[in-house]
Amino acid sequence: MKPPVHQPTGEHQRRPLSVIIVAGIAALAGLLFGYDTGIISGAILFIRKDFALSAGTEGLVVSAVLFGATLSSVLSGRLADRLGRRTVLLIASMFFIVGSITGAFATSVTVLVISRFGLGLAIGVASFTAPLYISEIAPPNMRGRLVGLNQLAITLGILLSYVVDFSFAKSGQWNWMIGLGAVPGLLLALGMFFLPESPRWLLLRGQKEKAREVLQEVRGRSDVSAEWNEIQETLKGEKGTWRELLKPWLRPMLIVGVGLAFFQQFTGINTVIYYAPTIFQLAGFHSNSTSILATVGVGLVNAGMTVVAISLMDRVGRRPLLLIGLTGMALSLFALTLGFSGVLGSGALKWIGLLSLMDYVASFAISIGPVFWLIISEIYPLRLRGLAMSLATGANWVCNLIVTFTFLLLIQAWGPTGTFGLLGVITLAAIPFSYFLVPETKDRSLEQIEHDVRLKS
Ligand code: BGC
Repeated sequence: MKPPVHQPTGEHQRRPLSVIIVAGIAALAGLLFGYDTGIISGAILFIRKDFALSAGTEGLVVSAVLFGATLSSVLSGRLADRLGRRTVLLIASMFFIVGSITGAFATSVTVLVISRFGLGLAIGVASFTAPLYISEIAPPNMRGRLVGLNQLAITLGILLSYVVDFSFAKSGQWNWMIGLGAVPGLLLALGMFFLPESPRWLLLRGQKEKAREVLQEVRGRSDVSAEWNEIQETLKGEKGTWRELLKPWLRPMLIVGVGLAFFQQFTGINTVIYYAPTIFQLAGFHSNSTSILATVGVGLVNAGMTVVAISLMDRVGRRPLLLIGLTGMALSLFALTLGFSGVLGSGALKWIGLLSLMDYVASFAISIGPVFWLIISEIYPLRLRGLAMSLATGANWVCNLIVTFTFLLLIQAWGPTGTFGLLGVITLAAIPFSYFLVPETKDRSLEQIEHDVRLKS
């Protein structure tokens, strides 16, 4: 009798489903990113009262997550390359669970700040490891959509945080608002426990057999030889150190990653995500409940248009979406500037404010929102991918921190007209940057992209 041969029978039909599930589970990290950054805007109203916070301490509670995320994304460059993408996501999920529970039961501000900082550490690492893992497991023709799931999860996390904030607002139970983050944390831990490691990382660490097995598993029955050979080919060469990363041939791609990080934040998305109610009030929606409702609208538009982006990413390509979206963002920001300048009258401001903010968020959601995370998961060579992505992600968090801290100060100093005008000018500058420097990666395998980058240098 012949020995049983491993036959992945029937897996061909299962293929798209299985990679979607793999990507969906890893994208829970994105959901936590969105939830844990968004939840504090509502929770702080009650934490402020319970702990009688001074303005300084309040700032610390609010920004602890951002500080943690900035620090860990900058410092953890080697982690995903050394330990593996899956292991890093597993460790991050533990931080998500412990951070949420400790925060919920905190009886002192110190414990609360430390737990929020711990959550930030997890967010920083997970924010680049999840798209990295997904892009390495995805087939080329689905990569845009699958990595886009991570951005969709971020937006859903933000939306969920608004809804949870709203639901517990009456009772003022901030402990629940923070503690509920443990649920997706637990799901991420369970899911990642059962998922395989990235085949590309396994190969990088010399675990050939296992790598091939995983690749076969996520591709079903289709022949993986060509993809396998291609991945092996790119492993020859550089060593994966900081020095390699700074070599001239990679410089253009470092500029693209760090530049897109800068533009994703300095075009002002988080002034809207974190301060939408304030902006709506400035525009003339004075009641708290109307401005909070409008904020939920922002969350819905953000998530809804990310779905549109996901459906277009692999068909239209990254560059057209990026350029169209940036143009829409710049136009909305200038409309907002015009509205606030008063030339159109104060009655018009309310509606111009509402429409242009919605248009701004929609344009972000189809372009630089998802495209930033996707492009940085695609343009770096395998050996340097973790390190390079952590650099771009670190830049993104640093810029986020700067914009978040300076926005209210700028509004005070220059007024909304000057502030939104400045954001509009920065957005205009992002258009030639993207046009001339950002490569199209649609339908190219990660290895072909690496080959193109080498050729251009
Ligand atoms: C950005 C976040 C932002 C979110 C909004 C992400 O791509 O990195 O800073 O809050 O999009 O949807």
